[in-house]
Amino acid sequence: MKGRRTVLLGLGAATGLGAVAIANHFQNQQQSAQPPLEDRQKVRDFTVVGKATLQERAANKGIIYGAAAQYKPLTTNKRFAQHFAQECAVLVPANELKWKTLRPTPEKFNFSRSDWMAEFAQKHNMLFRGHTLVWYQALPKWFEDKVNRKNAEKFLTEHINTVVQRYAGKIYSWDVVNEAILPNSSKQGLRQTPWLRLLGADYIEMAFRTAAAADPQALLIYNDNNLEYDNAKTETKRDRVLKLLERLKSKGVPIHGLGIQSHLGASSRGFNAKRLRNFLKDVASLDLQILITEMDVSETKLLVADDRDTIIAGVYHDYLSLALDEPAVNTVITWGLSDRYTWLSHFAPRQDGVPVRPLPLDAELERKLAWNAIASAFDQASPRNIKYNF
Ligand code: XIL
Repeated sequence: MKGRRTVLLGLGAATGLGAVAIANHFQNQQQSAQPPLEDRQKVRDFTVVGKATLQERAANKGIIYGAAAQYKPLTTNKRFAQHFAQECAVLVPANELKWKTLRPTPEKFNFSRSDWMAEFAQKHNMLFRGHTLVWYQALPKWFEDKVNRKNAEKFLTEHINTVVQRYAGKIYSWDVVNEAILPNSSKQGLRQTPWLRLLGADYIEMAFRTAAAADPQALLIYNDNNLEYDNAKTETKRDRVLKLLERLKSKGVPIHGLGIQSHLGASSRGFNAKRLRNFLKDVASLDLQILITEMDVSETKLLVADDRDTIIAGVYHDYLSLALDEPAVNTVITWGLSDRYTWLSHFAPRQDGVPVRPLPLDAELERKLAWNAIASAFDQASPRNIKYNF
């Protein structure tokens, strides 16, 4: 425990465990639509002063910066591991704490990869973040045959107890439930998932309560996607997520924050500053902190002739400046650090086969324009005003 607090304070008072109280709310409520593509390609000034890393620039403002990574590149590419430890204050295993990886059989757990990553984080004085305890994806093949209405609660609580207790004092923050909302799929907008089918709507609450009992110190986060843009579907989703958070808080469920995945697109229409800020403010008013948990910028529709790096950097800068205006946003995590290992190469590749460039470092591990855009958003952010709540 002591080590964990020291790390947190060493990061420049970047966060506290438990809910944070926020002061000095910003006033700027202007509406800003994304300018057309031609304008977004114009050279923008992402120059930053000095060579300080992303984690240092973030920590200067009381913000935590980190990234997701997979076991393989961290264990096989020394230079990558070095860059990772330099730039990042947090490591999130991209897949290694998911059911599919941890649960080869219904009886067995395999912690070999996640343990190695926990040690890596500790060795490099980084925070370690858990992703994810309850999700409808990445379930093992045996799940469907083995888990039924009778034993689902046992499976869920045993899983959470075993995993969360193992990393108590090592994992400072958990994505307890991931992607539980899908507007229009049920009455409260709860996504149809095996967990909902087997346990009913209370599975969310059950997961948070079990996680809190297994590690009372960990920050427990509800994480979701498609909350960023300006369209009717997203607006409904924001509303459903807010209602879920309100319900959980009103029932006294131990939840400390919202994770906004922030998988963005270079060709998307842009953000509605007012709506997004209001949403962030509403979440913050529930005494919840806000984490950007999986940021990257996909580019499937951009032409190679477009100045892709400038457009992508512009999305980083626009989004982060907007989000960081809200003092409750205290963490920025990108879903990967280098283009060399991005999941988007498989999930959202370009039609022409040209490698995608969604992350702060390029495939050679050089800092690129997206890195500058993130760095300058941190440099321009106002310092967080965080009350510790140990
Ligand atoms: C992704 C991983 O990065 C990939 O390696 C894997 O094949 C699929 O999952 N939202 C999430 C993450 O919450 O767990 C996903 O991670 C990306 C989308």
